[in-house]
Amino acid sequence: MTTVENADVVDEGQEADLTDDRLARALGLRVCDLPALRSFADGAAVADPDAPPLRPRDLLHRRLRSSVCDDMIDPRALQAARPRPAEPALTGRPSLLLPQPEPLPDITLADAIEQRGSSTTYAARPLPLATLVGLFEGAAGIRDHRPGYNVRDFPVRRAPSAGGLAPIDLYVVANDVAGLDQGLYCYRPSGPELTVVDSGNMRGKVADAGIAADWLFHAPAVLFLTVNMERVEWKYGVRSYRYAHVDLGVLTQNLYLVATGLGLATCAVAAFDDDSANDLLRLDGRDAFVSLLFACGLPGGR
Ligand SMILES: Cc1cc2nc3c(=O)[nH]c(=O)nc-3n(C[C@H](O)[C@H](O)[C@H](O)COP(=O)(O)O)c2cc1C
Repeated sequence: MTTVENADVVDEGQEADLTDDRLARALGLRVCDLPALRSFADGAAVADPDAPPLRPRDLLHRRLRSSVCDDMIDPRALQAARPRPAEPALTGRPSLLLPQPEPLPDITLADAIEQRGSSTTYAARPLPLATLVGLFEGAAGIRDHRPGYNVRDFPVRRAPSAGGLAPIDLYVVANDVAGLDQGLYCYRPSGPELTVVDSGNMRGKVADAGIAADWLFHAPAVLFLTVNMERVEWKYGVRSYRYAHVDLGVLTQNLYLVATGLGLATCAVAAFDDDSANDLLRLDGRDAFVSLLFACGLPGGR
């Protein structure tokens, strides 16, 4: 094996390997991680020698500029593209038939915007399942089917998303939902249905996943907004990371406003431990990962 000491006697190819190996070790990475790192470095190249040093967010933002992201799908390839699965498959797991969603009361958009707020306290009363279904359906349900991506009936959702690809999935930990056993469920809008992912009391695990958010223990329901990168990356490439998080924000506001209409107390939570949350949902944390929590219940409590 080539050592640092005899590096001057190796030929050019070996020297490149040596450099990669040393660089990878210095960064705590593997050699196979270096192409991704180099693509970052290329995208982040600073022409101006007087520019201030890059911060982590500069690296990310500079790499995700449209002028640098050159792996979006070719328009000709798009002509023949087929849509990816629009929701998690979760094959072999039971799904629940859902009650009719609680209808949204007559509330003007202006009133909903005015009355919306975040609350970390909830009444010690169960959240009715029909209300939870009303939240899912009202904020994220399918409102139509239209021709798109070479199929006649591509689903159109209540929350807009880049290219209509809807990369955000909704899971819910039901702590105290009347008509729903305690456990973890995935909302699949095509049913619509809730697919059982896990069962049992998960209050402790949810509170542990939050950072300085013990109050999550008492939330009757905690939604997890997850990003499915494969659903968007085939079309938007590296830039998908930006689009997906804009979609997540849009959906979050839908959730806030629909929850307000339904008279719920809610709070978005970005302060959570990624690994704990992904483990809880059995996501790999790479192609699919949790990006936000959203607690809800009936208003009340202290
Ligand atoms: C993306 C996002 C992340 C948030 N994360 C947290 C959080 O981790 N913990 C928390 O207590 N509140 C969180 N909130 C709630 C904000 O603190 C709250 O929206 C803000 O204080 C304004 O109050 P309002 O929602 O009542 O208007 C979050 C809100 C959003 C939109």
